[in-house]
Amino acid sequence: MKIIFIGPPGSGKGTQAKRLASRLEVPHISTGDMLREAVAEGTEVGRKAAPIMALGHLVPDDLMIEIVDERLAKADAAKGFILDGFPRTLVQAEKLDRIVGNGKIGLRVLQLLVPDEAIVRRITLRRTCPQCGAIYHLENQPPASDSVCDRDGAEVIARPDDNETAVRKRLDVFHRDTVPVASYYKAKSVLREVDGVGPVDEVFERIEKSLA
Ligand code: AP5
Repeated sequence: MKIIFIGPPGSGKGTQAKRLASRLEVPHISTGDMLREAVAEGTEVGRKAAPIMALGHLVPDDLMIEIVDERLAKADAAKGFILDGFPRTLVQAEKLDRIVGNGKIGLRVLQLLVPDEAIVRRITLRRTCPQCGAIYHLENQPPASDSVCDRDGAEVIARPDDNETAVRKRLDVFHRDTVPVASYYKAKSVLREVDGVGPVDEVFERIEKSLA
């Protein structure tokens, strides 16, 4: 199964995509995670992307398409995948159609709906594990022990783009560039809208129902 998660920043794409990938035993491919890894490793892609991400802007389409094309060519993606954070523009969506066979083979697109007012609070209280990528929220899903990842004991951190100014910019970019991508998939009848508000388990149940 080929699944795409679309949603504003902080709508729970990463939280839900990780869980669904483990349930379906397909890779979770997050372009945000791939870029953050490149930044941490200091690669050329990482050096280009870091300042763009910190401001909440989009990394150029040609760079993103190259990264995703290369990742989807790996053997583990042959049986299916969950894409989180790609495509984010119509140019990326059209290119992805060509990569995965014009969207005809088992493609499902899940759009998580969360109002903008809820987003800023979710994001400013998010913490992530720099080692394993686990996602926490200081109120809703805190680590068991203060500021330390439950899985590997690493110190959990706030992402550099999780400040209020960058979040508001990311929301603007989402409405301008990514909402048209949802409409693009709606016109192809592969879009499912899922209410992303409520406890994580309930949102996951809605996602599973929408895929049944
Ligand atoms: P990316 O990493 O994709 O960031 P994003 O889309 O802004 O999404 P987030 O990771 O912030 O949120 P999420 O929806 O995954 O929510 P999460 O599950 O963490 O991209 C970062 C940057 O990289 C972009 O700004 C851009 O610069 C660049 N980039 C990436 N892909 C690109 C592309 N294709 N083209 C161009 N540039 C690209 O949850 C958020 C918080 O809420 C957590 O604390 C979580 O615990 C909590 N939470 C989750 N679910 C719930 C719930 N149901 N109720 C309450 N709290 C919840």
